[in-house]
Amino acid sequence: MKNQLNIIETKDLLKTYHTGNVSTNVLKGLNLSIKRGEFVSIMGPSGSGKSTLLYLLGGLEHATDGFVHIEGEKLQGMKDKKISQIRNETIGFVFQFYNLVPHLTVEENILLPAMLAGKKKRNLHPRMEELLTIVGLKDKQFSYPSELSGGQQQRVAIARALVGNPKILLADEPIGNLDSNTGKEIMELFKKLNEEEHITIVQVTHSEKSTHYGNRVIYLEDGIIINREEKHFVTA
Ligand SMILES: Nc1ncnc2c1ncn2[C@@H]1O[C@H](COP(=O)(O)OP(=O)(O)OP(=O)(O)O)[C@@H](O)[C@H]1O
Ligand SMILES: [Mg+2]
Repeated sequence: MKNQLNIIETKDLLKTYHTGNVSTNVLKGLNLSIKRGEFVSIMGPSGSGKSTLLYLLGGLEHATDGFVHIEGEKLQGMKDKKISQIRNETIGFVFQFYNLVPHLTVEENILLPAMLAGKKKRNLHPRMEELLTIVGLKDKQFSYPSELSGGQQQRVAIARALVGNPKILLADEPIGNLDSNTGKEIMELFKKLNEEEHITIVQVTHSEKSTHYGNRVIYLEDGIIINREEKHFVTA
């Protein structure tokens, strides 16, 4: 049955990587519910499993065990084609490195992945123009990535993630590569997208300050979700 309230749910989510004959449990049975319209930040030490969790939520990686539900639909057991469809229609990704194609213009970069997913340029065009205005790059529509600052390039990557009108934006350290003022602008943009466009956002961040733009923080440590207050109590 579809749970309309929780747009993302995980149940006993487990991820194990095998390298040679060594197995590492990276996620150790995570139970997580994210409500439609939330803006959640995931924090935790390097290697705690934050990126892995994000990739599993977006269907970019397979779980070793347990489940991920997106809008009530279980990804595990789904055909890859159906997972790609959900990814294309429901989820947008933003990464620390913008991964723009250097020889394509801003407009072409924004349109490319959606067109590769089979969408028609003429159907995408109005939303692309609207997004250029939202991210403040209307005057850079025909510029190339090398003519843009880091923050502007990240805005292009955000517009690219949103052009297919996803309901969920998954962002892995979106401001990790930016100076603090530019990072602040990107966080303000995320807040606006969350509040005005009602996009559910899950971001991984190392910056405590950036969590203040969202409504909730989840702390991961060594593959489990911890309650930071309890942890302080234990280690105090
Ligand atoms: N493809 C892989 N093969 C083997 N081990 C992996 C793979 N990807 C990640 N890991 C391991 O899983 C653990 C968690 O990695 P992950 O990238 O999720 O951490 P993270 O919390 O995002 O760290 P960071 O803050 O440094 O980005 C690490 O120990 C990492 O070495
Ligand atoms: Mg990471």
